[in-house]
Amino acid sequence: MNRPPGGVPRLAQIPPGVVTLAHPVLLAPVAYQRMAHPDGEFASALAAAVQGAGLVLSTQASVLLEDVARLVLAEPQRGPLWMQLYLQHDRGFTAELVRRAERAGYEALVLTVDAPTSGARDRERRAGFRLPPGVSAVNLAGLPPVTPPALEAGQSALFDGLLRGAATWRDVEWLQGLTRLPVLLKGVLHEDDARQAAALGVAGLIVSNHGGRTLDTAPATAWVLPRIADTVGGGLPLLVDGGIRRGTDVLKAVALGARAVLVGRPYVHGLATAGAQGVAHVLRLLRDEFEIAMALTGCATLAEAGPSLLFGRSAPR
Ligand SMILES: Cc1cc2nc3c(=O)[nH]c(=O)nc-3n(C[C@H](O)[C@H](O)[C@H](O)COP(=O)(O)O)c2cc1C
Repeated sequence: MNRPPGGVPRLAQIPPGVVTLAHPVLLAPVAYQRMAHPDGEFASALAAAVQGAGLVLSTQASVLLEDVARLVLAEPQRGPLWMQLYLQHDRGFTAELVRRAERAGYEALVLTVDAPTSGARDRERRAGFRLPPGVSAVNLAGLPPVTPPALEAGQSALFDGLLRGAATWRDVEWLQGLTRLPVLLKGVLHEDDARQAAALGVAGLIVSNHGGRTLDTAPATAWVLPRIADTVGGGLPLLVDGGIRRGTDVLKAVALGARAVLVGRPYVHGLATAGAQGVAHVLRLLRDEFEIAMALTGCATLAEAGPSLLFGRSAPR
């Protein structure tokens, strides 16, 4: 077994260009974090920065994106700072949101493309979920309300209404033309979409099924990831999320073709339990477990973690 050069597994070339992470973990965009803890996204951002993890701030964050950026950018050992975008029905408003992210110092945009409408969330409906008073998507303040189109007989509120604002490939090109920031797509699960995204020159893909929150029975990302990796080759950086719970999961994701992973629920549990310290603890555990898993599988560097680590020489395709 080779020894890692600096003792720490380094990861290079996450877009844009070359970003070196101390470990391949980012916090996934999760909306309305002040529901979990009064410090909300500030706590998560601070924890990510001090643990050298990346941060992807949700469009539906419950604190101002500028304040989060200031906090993160002040930490010398921080990881990448990215902003997640949901295209709003008002494209002018979306463009201004992009400008704000650029001015604040965000380093990439993550366009979520798998949730033009919410999934059928039975438990949420049964619980009669409502945002508590004082928690809102503050970065969307001032967004003009959606005016539903007048529907004719036989038309559908979903297909002829809501989905008119859903992201299309043209919107991806629009966004790329609008911003100097690299654009990644989050929520890609099909090889054809991966191929098309690569052809448009996106900076990376996040293979994701939104943590199972949009479409029931969508395929597991661990199943899809190696197929997309085969489709796009090594040229397009791939990240993955969904069900990453232990350091071994991080290593398996890398072995299946990801350069980094995002975690969602685990850090929200940490946040709800103990604020910034809770999130930092979750990140530290993941990193320690990941490094132990590398050591115990004989991987001195991430480049050594490929499909054969999981399947021997007969990796299924
Ligand atoms: C409560 C909650 C809110 C979320 N909000 C967003 C969001 O605003 N934007 C987005 O792109 N994804 C959102 N996601 C999806 C996560 O970014 C991520 O894809 C998912 O949580 C990963 O799965 P995991 O929770 O198993 O780690 C949300 C997930 C959860 C659990």
